[in-house]
Amino acid sequence: MEDFANLFTQLIEASYAHEQYRDIECINLIASEGIKSPAVKEIMRLCMDLECRYSEGDNDLQGHVKERHYQGQKYITIIENCAADLVKLLFKCNWTDVRLVSGTHANLATFKGLSMATKNRKMVVAPLSCGAHISHDYTGLAGQVLSLEIINLAYDINELNIDVDKSIDIIKAARPGIVTLGASLFLFPHPVKELKEVTEEVGAYLVYDAAHVLGLIAGGEFQDPLKEGADFVTASTHKTFPGPQGGLILGNLTDERMEKAIKAVQRAVFPLSASNVHLARLPAVGVAALELKVFGRELAKQTVRNAQTAGEYLYEHGLKVLGADKGFTRSHQIAVDVRAFGGGKRVAKDLEEANIILNKNLLPYDDQDNRDNPSGIRIGFQDVTRRGFKESDIKYLCDLMLDVITYRRKPQEVKKDVLEFKKQFNKVEYGFNSIKEALEYVERELKNS
Ligand SMILES: Cc1ncc(COP(=O)(O)O)c(C=O)c1O
Repeated sequence: MEDFANLFTQLIEASYAHEQYRDIECINLIASEGIKSPAVKEIMRLCMDLECRYSEGDNDLQGHVKERHYQGQKYITIIENCAADLVKLLFKCNWTDVRLVSGTHANLATFKGLSMATKNRKMVVAPLSCGAHISHDYTGLAGQVLSLEIINLAYDINELNIDVDKSIDIIKAARPGIVTLGASLFLFPHPVKELKEVTEEVGAYLVYDAAHVLGLIAGGEFQDPLKEGADFVTASTHKTFPGPQGGLILGNLTDERMEKAIKAVQRAVFPLSASNVHLARLPAVGVAALELKVFGRELAKQTVRNAQTAGEYLYEHGLKVLGADKGFTRSHQIAVDVRAFGGGKRVAKDLEEANIILNKNLLPYDDQDNRDNPSGIRIGFQDVTRRGFKESDIKYLCDLMLDVITYRRKPQEVKKDVLEFKKQFNKVEYGFNSIKEALEYVERELKNS
C-alpha cells in the first residue's frame, strides 16, 4: 500500500500543480494547443454521464446517426446530430463526421477510407521537414500503420510553400489515390485550387489537413479549402478551433464519386478504427462552434495580427524570422531560425525556464532526421490572443523572449517578469462566460431575427 499511496499522492499533487503552472504561470505559445472558454469548460464538466457511454453504429450520408447497436441512445442521438449540424453550418458543408477522437484519427479514417475507395495505396504529401504532420509521412501513420506508399510533393524553400509546377508533374507521374495538403508548420495557404485539376485528372481525392487552422478558416482569415476544391478536410478540434481535444472530417456530398468516398471514410471510422468515440466532448464541440460563429472573425483577425506583429518585431530586433518578404505569416504561427543562438533545442529549453512555452521545430531546409536539435522554433499566438493579448502586449512578450534568446538576461530573471505580466491576463476572451450566457445570446438573436 505504501507504494500505491505515494504514487497516488504524487499524481494528485502533480495534477493540481500542472493547472497552476501551465494555465496561470506560463505563457503558452505552442501552436498546436488551444484554450477553452468558461462555457466550453462548463459543458465539459456537465457531461460526466456521457463520458461513461457508448454509441457504436453507422451514420447516414448527412453525417447523422443512422443505426446504433446499444440501447439508451435517446439523447445521445440528438447530441451527435446537433453537434454534426452545428459543424456543417459553421463550415458551410453538407457532410461531416464528428466521431473522431483526434486529428490523427481523422487522418487515419480519411486515408484508410480513400485508399479503399480508390483501391490505390499511393499518397502524395508535403515533405515532413516542410511542415507536414507525422501522420502524413512514411515514418508515421500513413506509412507505418496504413502501409501507404508516400511520395513527396516538391517544396519551394524560398516561397515557403509547395512548388505548384513541379508538384503537378509529380502527381501526374505518381497517379496517387490521395493528395494531402495542410501542415503543422503552416504559415501560408497551400495551393488547393492550383492542384485540384491534376488531382481530379489522375482520379485522386484531395485532402486538406486543417488541424492547425480550422478556427482561422471558420473566422474567414485563412483559405477555405472546401471552397477552393478540397474533397475532404480533416482537423483537430482543440487548436485554433477552441473546443475539446478531438477531431472531425468535413466534406460535401455532391455526386457519386463523393458518395463512394464518404461511405468508405465512414466505414473507416466505424467499425474499422473506433468503438467508443469519447461522446462527452460533443456538446463542447457545439459550444465552440457557436463561439466561432459569434466571435470567430474578430478572434481570427487578432490572432493573425498578433502573429504578424511578433514576426515583424523579432525580425526588426535581429532574429531570422522566416517569410520576411511575405509578411511573415498568414496564420496563427511564425517560424524563427535560431541557429545563431544555439539552435531550437537550447532556445526552447531556456524559454521554458522563463515560463515561456513553445517548441523547437524543423525548418524547411533542415535534415528531416535532425529532429533533436533543429534550426528553428515555432511560435503560435492562438492562446495568448484568446487571453487578451493585443499588439503592444505581443511586443513586450517579444522583448522578454529576446532577452532569453539573445542571452541578454538569465531565464530565471525573465521568469519573474513573465509571472508578473501574466497576472494581467486572467480571462478568456472571444467566448462565452457560461452556458447560460450562450443560451441567452442565441435566444436574443432568435428574437431579433
Ligand atoms: C497538421 C496536423 N495534422 C494532424 C495533427 C494531429 O492532431 P491530433 O493531435 O489531434 O491527433 C497535428 C497535430 O498537431 C497536425 O499538426
